[in-house]
Amino acid sequence: MNSKHLNFVLTVCILFLAPFAGKAQKATIEHRVDSVLNLMTLEEKIGQMNQYSGFWEATGPITEEGNKLEQVRTGQLGSMLNINGVDHTRKLQELAMQSRLKIPLLFGQDVVHGYRTMFPIPLGEAASWDLEAIEHSARIAATEASAAGIHWTFAPMVDIGRDPRWGRVMEGAGEDPYLGSLIAAARVKGFQGKGYGNTDAVMACAKHFAAYGAAEAGRDYNSVDMSYRMLNEIYLKPYKAAVEAGVATLMNSFNDINGIPATANSYIQRDLLKGQWKFDGFVVSDWGSIGEMINHGYSKDCYQAAQQAITAGSDMDMESRCYIGNLAQLVKDGKVDIKLIDDAVRRILTKKFEMGLFDDPFKYCNEEREKQQWNNPANLEVERDVAKKSIVLLKNDNQLLPLDTKKKAIAMIGPLAKAVRENIGFWSYAWPDDSIRIVTQWQGIRTRAGKNITMTYAKGCEINDSSKAGFAEAVNIARQADVVILSIGEAANMSGEAKSRSNIHLPGVQEELVKAVCATGKPVIVLINAGRPLVFNWTADHAQAILYTWWLGTEAGNAIADVIFGDYNPSGKLPCTFPRTEGQIPIYYNHFSTGRPPKTDSDVNYVSSYIDLPNSPKFPFGYGLSYTTFKYSEPLLSKTTMNSNDKIEIKVSVTNTGNYDGKETVQLYIRDLVGSVVRPVKQLIGFQQVFLKKGETKELTFTIGIDDLKFYDYNVNLIAEPGDFEVFVGGNSATELKKTFTLL
Ligand code: NOJ
Repeated sequence: MNSKHLNFVLTVCILFLAPFAGKAQKATIEHRVDSVLNLMTLEEKIGQMNQYSGFWEATGPITEEGNKLEQVRTGQLGSMLNINGVDHTRKLQELAMQSRLKIPLLFGQDVVHGYRTMFPIPLGEAASWDLEAIEHSARIAATEASAAGIHWTFAPMVDIGRDPRWGRVMEGAGEDPYLGSLIAAARVKGFQGKGYGNTDAVMACAKHFAAYGAAEAGRDYNSVDMSYRMLNEIYLKPYKAAVEAGVATLMNSFNDINGIPATANSYIQRDLLKGQWKFDGFVVSDWGSIGEMINHGYSKDCYQAAQQAITAGSDMDMESRCYIGNLAQLVKDGKVDIKLIDDAVRRILTKKFEMGLFDDPFKYCNEEREKQQWNNPANLEVERDVAKKSIVLLKNDNQLLPLDTKKKAIAMIGPLAKAVRENIGFWSYAWPDDSIRIVTQWQGIRTRAGKNITMTYAKGCEINDSSKAGFAEAVNIARQADVVILSIGEAANMSGEAKSRSNIHLPGVQEELVKAVCATGKPVIVLINAGRPLVFNWTADHAQAILYTWWLGTEAGNAIADVIFGDYNPSGKLPCTFPRTEGQIPIYYNHFSTGRPPKTDSDVNYVSSYIDLPNSPKFPFGYGLSYTTFKYSEPLLSKTTMNSNDKIEIKVSVTNTGNYDGKETVQLYIRDLVGSVVRPVKQLIGFQQVFLKKGETKELTFTIGIDDLKFYDYNVNLIAEPGDFEVFVGGNSATELKKTFTLL
């Protein structure tokens, strides 16, 4: 047998035997978990279900101090969060090794969009619609975090966000369940790599289960009241996708759902997650969410809260100390079945075994690896790549961009032009050398502009200023320049946890600054930095070019320069609808028709509209321009009827009709025209990214099968109903390029 044959035979053997090896390993772990469980006292079991914040920056209100180190040593703690670095994790793990059963600690951390290298905020990254790039950024984040001794990230946040007032929209993938599900799976795969247990991977945690993003009025931690149909149809889909992608853990949420706090919600945690979805990982509460059920008015005290949470399927208590303080008594009082405790502990120990921590508790404590990852230039390259792909070109009148390098004088203005830490956004870590590593927008543009271009700078105003004292200087340098780059937006800490805003206009006097600078008559390129869709109508209507740059991470300045000078042709598409004003919120593309849909944007004749505002958004979901233009052909359907076993193929040709090579994200939407429950006016069911050289045409094929047509009916059954469908193709959700077909 030659070596080719031998390789072939070996590959076949591996493929054939792999499932058996997997099963055998699972059985071994089950056996080992049981043998540990048999040795444990009730108190030691409850210790495993307890998690405290450590000694790094706290990410919530510490409920009580107490001697945490002693609790580690006596086995009263299963996990800690907010511990950074090999040095610290090693010391704590050594302490855990002094406990009677030497059960290793799990170290968790909010590695939401990077650890040492900061990547674009998740909402920004979602604008790339590039699943490979998104997976890659999570991969690097996991490599860096695991090298620092971290086992577990509290990410991805997969909450659907339809309300930009909610500060946490920055952490998710936007408003769409289809795109959100694909991104959830990509992030899980990126964090978990070839499998947690490898030293370059961390366990992922899909959060916040569930419907946290639907908080009423966009106010963080607020209530959620919605039908189970809507919950399943829109909000739960990305969680299910994360579970199907093998996510190790889930975190539940602060909100109540239809009157029952998510933390004590058996329907979502026991019936769906651990029941129907067969999730075999564990559920951690959100910070203090078990104890907060007292504030909700759902629990009388911590004793009752602990009983309600464990009964509903919350396995680990983050920071509320209700489990450690009450579970033993609850078991003794016959209020909690020991089987529930055993099940939770079994789930937690299984993950510790799968991570390899029982074999080597110090497996992730490797100073060499930590040092190597601390400043790995390859990671910065990955960040720059995903950052430039995340930028969305909203406007480009007279082809102002890419910047013509014959323009010799650039005035760079605005409170964010030279900002440093703002570029990395909320949920990022302050490292001592941030000022050296983070590439500011000024630095990136200055470097790329080269010696032949002069650059001047004026701040103009602070982010949330009421003073216009700096305007004169800004206007003065604008007058002397060929072109102005104006960098404005929010501060990084204006979005994120507990950062809801009732007013999502540009803060302070920034829009006044735009007016003053535009009044000079100079061409103005506006960079908008934000953790949410903002309202900026005057700017949108008057500035010549606008790039929405979110918070792009460590390489922000370089990525922006790549786009401004045309080294990268922008390809980002909005993952969320941009409203004209807060009064339109919630606004999302996949809404229902109503009985009185307006015929046009100005139709107010007894229709469902505002008398002072069109229904349409400022920028629709899926929108984003390129330096080139794309022309779509009529879509062609392989047939106009299908039955449940059939597939329909849709072919569309896209031509690059402009002057630059570029990438387009071709989107596929359907509308189910009549249903037993009303269906959205459009619903994304597919997309493809295509790179086209100038003048080039490519034909793309999409395939629609029965699963793409399914929805949750009134009784929450997933079904497809016979009838007529419209299928739309285009470069954003406002496309009217459509064909119809019938499901028989
Ligand atoms: C509360 C946040 O809601 C959650 O997302 C985070 O993971 C925990 N705090 C831990 O920091």
